[in-house]
Amino acid sequence: MKFSVAVLPGDGIGPEVTKESVKILNKVGELYGHNFAFEYGEVGGIAIDNFGTALPSETAKIAGKADAVLFGAVGGPKWDDPSASVRPEDGILGIRRHLKLFANLRPVQVYPELIHASPIKPEILRGADFLVIRELTGGLYFGKPKKRWETAKGRQSVDTLKYSEIEIRRIVQVAFELAKGRRKFVTSVDKANVLETSRLWRQVATEVAVGYPDVGLEHMLVDTAAMQLVSNPRRFDVVVTENMFGDILTDEAAVVSGSMGMLPSASLAGVPDLNEGTRTPGLYEPIHGSAPDIAGKGLANPTASILSAALMLRYSMGLGTEAKAIEDAVSEVLRAGYRTADIASDASDYLSTVEMGTEILRKLR
Ligand code: IPM
Ligand code: MN
Repeated sequence: MKFSVAVLPGDGIGPEVTKESVKILNKVGELYGHNFAFEYGEVGGIAIDNFGTALPSETAKIAGKADAVLFGAVGGPKWDDPSASVRPEDGILGIRRHLKLFANLRPVQVYPELIHASPIKPEILRGADFLVIRELTGGLYFGKPKKRWETAKGRQSVDTLKYSEIEIRRIVQVAFELAKGRRKFVTSVDKANVLETSRLWRQVATEVAVGYPDVGLEHMLVDTAAMQLVSNPRRFDVVVTENMFGDILTDEAAVVSGSMGMLPSASLAGVPDLNEGTRTPGLYEPIHGSAPDIAGKGLANPTASILSAALMLRYSMGLGTEAKAIEDAVSEVLRAGYRTADIASDASDYLSTVEMGTEILRKLR
């Protein structure tokens, strides 16, 4: 089959890790008889330098017509001025909004081989396997008013936390749908003891649960969830939460998997029925950022990007077998002892970004 992929490498380590994913996708094409047509676009800081905007219209167009988007990372110290009128992050936020990618899936699992790479005790981690569903196009990230202004008493600023019933229902439904294919347990995370949006969230989540009698639902306050994620990660199956909470909790969750360099993500405009083989457009990106401190040094771990490419095959292309082949290759490489710097147990013995990508490619079947 033939597929079109918009590749937006972005800034920092984005280009180096994305390159490894493209390499892997080409190999999958060779092995399984598919053709991936890649079209490249600029996004983030590099786009600001070249076009004056983080999301040039040409990039939005390429992303909008592709079967899926493979995204690197955006941002860096060069564009970090808090008074700047354009920011690299507007690139990713703009695409999410433009493509209506309201559902962000961030699967977290513990690779037995990496259990010692995490600062958390192995006995706490062993067997942890959960999926965080983060709402991605609402909440504080996009709510209006959002601004800064001068007053007689000094500067003021506001961001707005707003959620509609429709926005909450569709994301909670995604969580329940995906929980059906897992251990059938949803944890809805909110701050209902303080926030009005959370009280609506809790109500709507409870209503959605009625339609899924086989799936359990618990509500958990976000501060408790932050603690439980690192003290008892095994208790979670599917976690669903609003945009900002999800952003914070998934960086924390990365510690469970050993390294930020291991966590992929999928951002979808709906959820495909994998049994029916339906597909949905989506954007796939590692959850790690642009890591400017190690950019260009060959130190980045390409695994999160490569695993994101696997999610792309599964959700946007209906290629579950091929996706599994990539995931198996990653596991095998870890089992064989190959490591990048972020997950190496011996600080002087690790592979470069390209070498790691090549080892994963070699194990593809
Ligand atoms: C993420 C990132 C982004 C976010 C940034 C780069 C805008 O941290 O995908 O988690 O906050 O959503
Ligand atoms: Mn984040």
